[in-house]
Amino acid sequence: MDTRTVRLADASNIWHHLTRHTGRPGPVMVRGEGLRLWDLDGREYLDATSGGVWCVNVGYGRREIADRVAAQLSLMPYYAGSAGNVPSAEFSERLLKYAPHHSRLYFSSSGSEANEKAYKMARLLSALKGGDGTVILYRDRDYHGTTLGALSSSGQSERRDGFGPFVPGFEEVPSAHCYRCAFGLARRSCSLECAAAVEEAVVRLGPGRVGGAVFETVTAGGGVIVPPEGYWPEVAAILKRHGALLILDEVVTGMGRTGAMFAFEHYGIAPDIVTLAKGVASAYMPLSVTLTTEEVFRGLQEGEGSFGYFRDISTFGGSAAAAAAADENLAVIEREGLVDRARVMGGELLAALSEAYAHPAVGDVRGLGLLCGVELVASRESREPLPEDRVAAVVARMAELGVLAGRTNRSIPGGNNVINFAPAYTVTGDDVETIRGTLMRALADVLGS
Ligand SMILES: Cc1ncc(COP(=O)(O)O)c(C=O)c1O
Repeated sequence: MDTRTVRLADASNIWHHLTRHTGRPGPVMVRGEGLRLWDLDGREYLDATSGGVWCVNVGYGRREIADRVAAQLSLMPYYAGSAGNVPSAEFSERLLKYAPHHSRLYFSSSGSEANEKAYKMARLLSALKGGDGTVILYRDRDYHGTTLGALSSSGQSERRDGFGPFVPGFEEVPSAHCYRCAFGLARRSCSLECAAAVEEAVVRLGPGRVGGAVFETVTAGGGVIVPPEGYWPEVAAILKRHGALLILDEVVTGMGRTGAMFAFEHYGIAPDIVTLAKGVASAYMPLSVTLTTEEVFRGLQEGEGSFGYFRDISTFGGSAAAAAAADENLAVIEREGLVDRARVMGGELLAALSEAYAHPAVGDVRGLGLLCGVELVASRESREPLPEDRVAAVVARMAELGVLAGRTNRSIPGGNNVINFAPAYTVTGDDVETIRGTLMRALADVLGS
């Protein structure tokens, strides 16, 4: 197809995600190499988002992953996940080395699905114990997916508007967001009221009612929120005390993004269930994992009759080709020491982005590893968020200047003011400098200095 026909077909046939179609042509991406992307017009971008939504963690153009997938596609693309396949066995061995507290991988094909599986596991476990632990807690800034169960367990109320009624049995608690503390406190003098709120909810809902809690270890799309020290051990202890499962959504943060294979390693905790998706195969193929402890697995094998196993399937969770991509992706990460690299380069990126404090609209710069956010405000004193259209204009200007950054997008009413950066783990010092310089220039061009 020639360029003009592609553009026309795209504009008239494709319903783009998260897009209001105005008739103006949008970008059509064609090719990638490392962190560089080229669109249909041949324009080059430095992609500081790993594919728009934090997926292509090992960068574009990885021949070894493409070759491994091609070989598996020729050998056998697929057989349902009720049977085994060779690459999923290989990937499981490789991944479990990093997860000493976990022993089972349940495959599906998206982050939403991985979370839905976790909720079903938590509810079924409670039913098997003869309990009524159907309620799952979630936080107001976290996002767990697009399917109705996952959306019902998501904060970010702008993402939910108009899609109700929602699935019952999900209850909201506040985020651990120090820059915008729900309790109006400051970290140095608070008593982790955000963690205590979890216990208050468990107690308020009644004994045995809360079967689990699903939280993002580091909130990604809700504004790159890194929890304060002490929060996770406290929350993990509360849930344990009340017999509720800790489900950590590491759809974004898993597979090395924060400078550890799993973000929960930074906090010395071991969740009962971890969900992984975007980085599992660096989006070379779609695959997600619900990773559980042996206890969760065993608990779902011991019932009677049709309660004696987990009655669930995900058709594409059986993709052998996707498992091959996952195994090769992790082999690349290991060979090139990319988790360490994410930690080191994450430190460099955060330091570089912190120079943006020179601009008065920058209220907070935060991050962990290669997941960083810059929060823009109308006033540093009041912390009033900069309106979303102004933030969008800064990100659009960055794209014009050749750097793709992300942003909170119609998620938090009045609070879509965080620009986010999550480049591939192979990002270089020069790339970091380009990202920093482009942000500074876009801030000045759009907001003045
Ligand atoms: C933390 C988190 N969990 C779950 C999801 C849902 O993943 P998917 O879009 O693959 O269903 C997302 C997607 O952005 C996410 O950021």
